[in-house]
Amino acid sequence: MEGKTWVPLKNFFHVNSRLSSARCNFSNMSNQVEYYNHFGKIYRPEILSCPEPELWTTDYQEKGRVYKEMVERTRQQTSLVEEYFSSELPVLDAGCGFGRHAMILAKKGFSVTGFDSSGIFIEIANELFRRHNLTGRFSKGEVANVSLSQFSQIVLFDVVEHVKPSTRKQFLSELHSLSLPSAVLIVSLPHVKKRFTSQLNNRLRRKITQNFSFFLAREEHPYPIPTRKDFEKFVRSLFTILKFKETAATDYYVLRKL
Ligand SMILES: C[S@@+](CC[C@H](N)C(=O)[O-])C[C@H]1O[C@@H](n2cnc3c(N)ncnc32)[C@H](O)[C@@H]1O
Repeated sequence: MEGKTWVPLKNFFHVNSRLSSARCNFSNMSNQVEYYNHFGKIYRPEILSCPEPELWTTDYQEKGRVYKEMVERTRQQTSLVEEYFSSELPVLDAGCGFGRHAMILAKKGFSVTGFDSSGIFIEIANELFRRHNLTGRFSKGEVANVSLSQFSQIVLFDVVEHVKPSTRKQFLSELHSLSLPSAVLIVSLPHVKKRFTSQLNNRLRRKITQNFSFFLAREEHPYPIPTRKDFEKFVRSLFTILKFKETAATDYYVLRKL
């Protein structure tokens, strides 16, 4: 979510001090829902009191690297939304987190519905919208069990990499079912650099971490991040790719439902 990691987990065994020092029994955590709920509990006061929550990051105060990357990423995401979406039609924010993009979209006059598997993030999104006098609908749920009508405009920002690799195809096909004919889906994913260490970290290290609840609970990125080749394979039978754009930090896709 932020600079490719919400929490600056840079090394194999590094755990964000605020997350690890909190009274939290990590051994009870078995998946990323727990990770995000815990993250939300720790940072809820900061997010809610941030003057611009749509740009909040863990280094928002000092306007650090993660913040700068977030500013750039939301700028690129918003520019794709402006190019491909109509504010006359509602938008589904899939894996909406605490409502970052929902806020941006609502401020631009879009009717927004968001869902996320983290109940704490959904609480924060509802509270943010209440405090900022915005209208939006948020539901807690996985793409498979959320009960929503179909949409012709969907954003899926920095979510697929958090879905277990073996279920990514299924995840996208469930999102396909939530789409109206010819729906447009805008996706962002962290960019995996071509340099050897990045590839090794993504391919080898995360092949290990994805199998242990220890890492799933502590790391924001325990799963391998899909490369462009991987992602194109997932979407091939479901969506056509209208646009692909790559930056140093992020890959962006605009897809149309087949
Ligand atoms: C990195 S955050 C991105 C949040 C938001 N899209 C943004 O960019 O600010 C990833 C989010 O995906 C959500 N998520 C992961 N798997 C999900 C699933 N199967 N169904 C719904 N939400 C999911 C997580 O709870 C988390 O809020």
